[in-house]
Amino acid sequence: DPGDAEKGGYDHFMMKEMTEQPKAMVDTLAGRLNTDGIRLDDINLDAETMKNINRIHIVACGTAYHAGMVGKFYFEKFARIAVETEAASEYRYKDPILDKKTLLIVVSQSGETADTLAAIRLAKEKGARVLAVTNVVGSSIAREADDVLYTNAGPEIAVASTKAYLTQVGCMLVLAMHLGQLNGEIISEEMKRLGHALLNTPELVQKAMESKEAVKTFAYQHFNINDLFFIGRGLDFYTCLEGSLKLKEISYIHSEAYAAGELKHGPIALIDDGTIVVAVCTQEKVFEKMLSNIKEVKARGAFVLAIVQEAHKGIASEVDEVFVIPNMDDDITPIPTVVYLQLLAYYLAVARGCDVDKPKNLAKSVTVE
Ligand code: G6P
Repeated sequence: DPGDAEKGGYDHFMMKEMTEQPKAMVDTLAGRLNTDGIRLDDINLDAETMKNINRIHIVACGTAYHAGMVGKFYFEKFARIAVETEAASEYRYKDPILDKKTLLIVVSQSGETADTLAAIRLAKEKGARVLAVTNVVGSSIAREADDVLYTNAGPEIAVASTKAYLTQVGCMLVLAMHLGQLNGEIISEEMKRLGHALLNTPELVQKAMESKEAVKTFAYQHFNINDLFFIGRGLDFYTCLEGSLKLKEISYIHSEAYAAGELKHGPIALIDDGTIVVAVCTQEKVFEKMLSNIKEVKARGAFVLAIVQEAHKGIASEVDEVFVIPNMDDDITPIPTVVYLQLLAYYLAVARGCDVDKPKNLAKSVTVE
């Protein structure tokens, strides 16, 4: 295969790109994070401009849309600005509350997605300011936005986005800290805590990648499934959405991602003997709530794989399988945790003989509607 040389010895671009994630995170943070806070020399959003902004819309598609959801959580928590996140294909055909006081943030790996580009044009027509978080320098989205924050992930070839997602999430946190700094909503201790946590992410991602054998073993034991459920709360819910998308894209296994508290309002009806439920439980604030949800699905026969921080590894007695991540700041867990879900999708797809890098019916970049 002529493409083999570019895969750098890996079986698939997706594995190569997952392996590159620690370096991609380093490149995303480089020069933007220092001891006093955040420095984003590449964008022109200053305190004066932010005074005139009263809401943020985050608009994107697919994986980038999930990064946008994490972004909403960060912006609201650290900059205390009202945020709405929407899929670009919905946003462009609505009549969003959009004016000079709106900051539109678009997220796009390729910088060429048609719906996302249309959202920018709509926003500019209404006088909004547009900031793009993208991976491709000089892309259409980069050119049309007022400000660009590059993810610096390097080229991504596999259709299933991995390192781009991780760096988009990193950018979301950096941006939230930046805006919190501009409007004075973030206190310096919080800034230090987050800065320190972010600097650890490349190492945490590296550790997650080193767990690939355990994920592979799990996948090869369970590849013959028809459905999989992901449940989580808070930040973990967004990680679930992304894990579920990865799984559908490359393994063709049907899956659902649910906010764990919503389970009882419907999907629990689908949990049966042996149904696999991946319970992402990295958020201390809702850990006990997750435990109750796990008990609910266990009572209906589910096979539960939990992902927890080290401090909660005792959950092993309640579930069937556990992946343990080191103890860390709850706000950065989406970064290492999603790596486990990427690996899970990858190995399930490989075990099922799927074409991981070129899944059927999907394109890397959707430049027409
Ligand atoms: C396509 C790709 C997805 C990607 C989405 C948005 O559907 O298959 O992996 O998340 O487009 O792409 P973008 O380049 O805008 O991030």
